[in-house]
Amino acid sequence: MLSAMSKRKKIYDGKAKTLFEGTQPGTLVQYFKDDTTAFNNKKHEIIEGKGILNNFISEYIMQRLGDIGIPTHFIKRLNMREQLIKQVEIIPIELVVRNVVAGSMAKRLGLEEGKVIGRPIVEFYYKNDDLGDPLVTDEHIFAFDWASPFEISGMVSLSLRINDFLCGLFAGAGLRLIDFKLEYGRLQNEDEDTLLVLADEISPDSCRLWDMRTNEIFDKDRFRKDLGGMKEAYQEVARRLGVLPGGVNQNAETRNQAIEPEVE
Ligand code: TMP
Ligand code: ASP
Repeated sequence: MLSAMSKRKKIYDGKAKTLFEGTQPGTLVQYFKDDTTAFNNKKHEIIEGKGILNNFISEYIMQRLGDIGIPTHFIKRLNMREQLIKQVEIIPIELVVRNVVAGSMAKRLGLEEGKVIGRPIVEFYYKNDDLGDPLVTDEHIFAFDWASPFEISGMVSLSLRINDFLCGLFAGAGLRLIDFKLEYGRLQNEDEDTLLVLADEISPDSCRLWDMRTNEIFDKDRFRKDLGGMKEAYQEVARRLGVLPGGVNQNAETRNQAIEPEVE
């Protein structure tokens, strides 16, 4: 018997997520895998249940952003590992917003990790795995037509709004939002206008989150830095946000099996 996963048309297979054709035109199903990678796929492990946790955490964050008027690709969560999303044309720029010095910026500029930045910094990275997502400026983006000046100014102002809101949301859960990565897409509406929408996911895979009191790490740096306890950290983020799902400890056989989406 064909599994539910193989019956559906695969649109894109990424490092941590797979996209399938959606249940209605203009939609896709976003499946969250347990695959965990770092350093452009040089390091890879399966962390059982990670995909489930990211599905629930990202759903919650996208919904809260929707509540304050941020347009997102999220429609609804279908099951433990899948979301129904709007099909968009992904803009090949990753925006990173930084509130505290950490990660690649600390290394690149020789700065000490943990220093609070006076104002949030927004950086652009060209989304290209073969090149390792290089840092670029808006000059590169306009010259090579990756996005228009109008789109870049829209993405920057949305990202700063998202940053302010998420700093508060995570503070309410006792977590500091150190930095995070966002992706946007172009959504065509009925009038053929193009709307900028937040896409991809927001989860401890794409954010740095430190405990407010102890600075303990609750994000993918646990994996990048071989600290261990990554799943427990993600579970704690979900618990603090009030979205810890049951069934996270499902076994290896069911791990990467898609669950048939709910019938409309
Ligand atoms: P960086 O310090 O390694 O540049 O990462 C900045 C933020 O972006 C951090 O919160 C992790 C996130 N990020 C991703 O989501 N995907 C990536 O491929 C990279 C390199 C970082
Ligand atoms: N997401 C990237 C990778 O899979 C890098 C990272 O998150 O550190 O390699």
